[in-house]
Amino acid sequence: MGNEESVIVDDSTSPSVLEARSIEAVAKHIKERNVKRIVVMVGAGISTSAGIPDFRSPDTGIYSNLAFLDLPDPEAVFDISFFRQNPKPFYALAHELYPGRYRPTIAHSFIKLLYDKGMLLKHFTQNIDCLERQAGVPGEKIIEAHGSFATQRCIDCKTPFPDEQMHPIVHKHEVPYCPECRGLVKPDIVFFGEALPENFFTNRSLPAEADLCIVMGTSLSVQPFASLPSLCSDGVPRVLINKERVGGMGSRPDDVLILGDCDAGVRRFARAMGWEEELGALWKETNPDPKARAEESAPPQTRDERLQDEVERLTEDIDRTLGMTDAYQQRVRERLESNEAHRQSDSGLAHVFPHLARKP
Ligand code: OAD
Repeated sequence: MGNEESVIVDDSTSPSVLEARSIEAVAKHIKERNVKRIVVMVGAGISTSAGIPDFRSPDTGIYSNLAFLDLPDPEAVFDISFFRQNPKPFYALAHELYPGRYRPTIAHSFIKLLYDKGMLLKHFTQNIDCLERQAGVPGEKIIEAHGSFATQRCIDCKTPFPDEQMHPIVHKHEVPYCPECRGLVKPDIVFFGEALPENFFTNRSLPAEADLCIVMGTSLSVQPFASLPSLCSDGVPRVLINKERVGGMGSRPDDVLILGDCDAGVRRFARAMGWEEELGALWKETNPDPKARAEESAPPQTRDERLQDEVERLTEDIDRTLGMTDAYQQRVRERLESNEAHRQSDSGLAHVFPHLARKP
């Protein structure tokens, strides 16, 4: 877990720079204070709506569904010592996770939008799916803290292995070997027991220079990544968009928790900024099929988003009918959202990979 105090601030603590702990107040803060050094920190939860499961969600996460690989423990699939003894389980999983078959989500397009607006200081990702790049975020803005499938090399002599040979081998469920020394070839993904890429450490001080921090779709359970949000300066608002509260998020007066689906959360964020149409247009560009792209009008609303809209509509109705105070409305809204987040934790993919998942 992150190494900061994890006690959530309560309603009696006023925010220090925001007007309220809400996404609308964050949007106002961005506009009024000319915020443009935003750090984004993400994990597998931003890719689940693309059909890639996360790791630790009960039942639907990859680690709950690896029994068929007969591993000593689920994390062994990404353990370098285990890989040396038996690379086959990793390559069985790599076949499913390999980039090229998934489309970026609306959350990925939101990060691209921050970049287009000149507001993205750095994007720190734990994901190995390359979907940020596919959404158009330039490589120099991305720190792939756990590496990616973009390149690969021999684990012994470190000779790079060509992409054009790698792809067919992975697709045939085979294991690639180095032509120089016959060592095992592995994508440049950081396994447990390996060091993070150098650019993680050279950019690690950036959160301290940020004027806003957005954390999305991560359990913040793997160090040193998990400590990044705690490196943001006091008084810098931090926004968590995630199904559950994680790490120390929520422990500072200007932490804003949007508990629920990432895509729904970024859409709310975009709406508060007046960017909803631009976000939809950017996401549309990620459709790889030009014909379908032309016909696609807007990103389809998920069931979670429809529910979120319903929550907002009900809250407005209650407000109109009863003329309630702001504080009471906020409490009702939070209760509705927390019930919804709780319900969502039971939903999702029935199995690890989309072609095995039950139909919605
Ligand atoms: P986890 O699976 O640990 O956490 C994913 C988080 O996203 C959880 O808190 C989920 O509740 C949340 N979540 C899932 N779907 C969501 C959605 N649609 N909307 C909002 N929230 C959602 O994944 P990571 O934190 O990325 O390492 O895991 C960190 C590292 O552990 C990974 O990089 C991987 C793994 O071992 C390597 O591959 C080397």
